[in-house]
Amino acid sequence: MTGSRAALRLWAIVPAAGRGERFTADQPKQYAPLLGAPMLEWTLRRLLAEARIEAIVVVVAPQDERWPPLAQRLGSTRLLTAEGGADRQTSVLNGLKRLASLAQPQDWVLVHDAARPCLTAPELGNLIDALVPGTSGAMLGAPLVDTLKREEDGMSAATVERQGLWRALTPQAFAYAALMEGLEDAARAGATVTDEAQAMERRGVRAQLVAGSAFNIKITQAADLLAAARILQSMGATAMRIGQGFDVHAFGAGNFVTLGGVRILHSNGVVAHSDGDVVIHALCDALLGALARGDIGQHFPDTDPRFRGADSRVFLRDVAGMVRSAGLQLVNADITVIAEAPRITAHRAAIAANLAADLGVDVQRINIKATTTERLGFIGRAEGLAAQAVVLLDELRA
Ligand code: CTP
Ligand code: MG
Repeated sequence: MTGSRAALRLWAIVPAAGRGERFTADQPKQYAPLLGAPMLEWTLRRLLAEARIEAIVVVVAPQDERWPPLAQRLGSTRLLTAEGGADRQTSVLNGLKRLASLAQPQDWVLVHDAARPCLTAPELGNLIDALVPGTSGAMLGAPLVDTLKREEDGMSAATVERQGLWRALTPQAFAYAALMEGLEDAARAGATVTDEAQAMERRGVRAQLVAGSAFNIKITQAADLLAAARILQSMGATAMRIGQGFDVHAFGAGNFVTLGGVRILHSNGVVAHSDGDVVIHALCDALLGALARGDIGQHFPDTDPRFRGADSRVFLRDVAGMVRSAGLQLVNADITVIAEAPRITAHRAAIAANLAADLGVDVQRINIKATTTERLGFIGRAEGLAAQAVVLLDELRA
């Protein structure tokens, strides 16, 4: 223990093995969708963003089949896994055991609930800053602000003095060996502790109370998710994205054109490698633009024989999948066909229905309109036709 204190490292444990019984949903609350990602992902991203944390042990329920794909998606070598126990304190203890060969006795271990995805960077930083030499531990908390009542038979029977009372938040941090002893001792004594500080208090070890943020709420009931989504949005976690696309094809041999997957009889066909559907090409480019994923030519090159004569709806469905896997959804798309002929008025509903089906959205989100160029330019001379599209994407809501 005479070694340099500067060498003390910081580890994190995230208990995520609960069943969320008060939450009442078809999946455990740590996987509840929050702005397009499971709650646990938000929690872990918060911690991964703190460079001072060496590694994070995520304690998950046995046979939790949702964890491996999430771990893979996060793709961090700083994520370790342990198996949870029957209650929170056992889960944390199992997390500590996972660190046995890694952590030194005096290293700090910070425990943070999976159910607190809105942890802010400043409060996490303040907590870590409080772990100075000579301190026995630190925890986030919030002084009570409301007047407190003692209830008897549903009636207010007395007012409880609020002075000196705090709500306990997480993270809470203690030295590795001390926390292990504290939790093992509680387990031996059959004592239920609902946070790490309680296990340490039993042994006379105190934690420095560090003021946490009002945003650091714990998700307990389903309604708390909405509040968490609002908080994360206000923290700039998500933003709307806009995209635009434009496509032209020259008329050539043939007797129909394909627009939005609808075959429309015409005096010409179009010259194209695929089916030459300018509506879908412009729409795909707009969506790829909003995703910052380049353009349609990069994803479906017209030099690739696989795409010869291709049904462009296949491209659109592919791009729709990229939108979803980015955690986004289409707010609306506005598409303009620019052509002297054919007239598309009679086909607008069918085009919108195709696009809505491929995108997996309500048809109300899609508008198709058309214009001529008053016989001016290449379109006016009926040498070809064009389409342009504008889209707005927003985070995917549960
Ligand atoms: N937890 C855990 N192992 C358990 C029980 C709880 O790892 N056996 C975790 C939860 O996943 C959560 C944190 O401890 O991240 C705080 O617990 P709580 O909010 O009570 O979650 P649940 O126990 O899942 O919810 P409930 O009490 O409503 O069932
Ligand atoms: Mg619980």
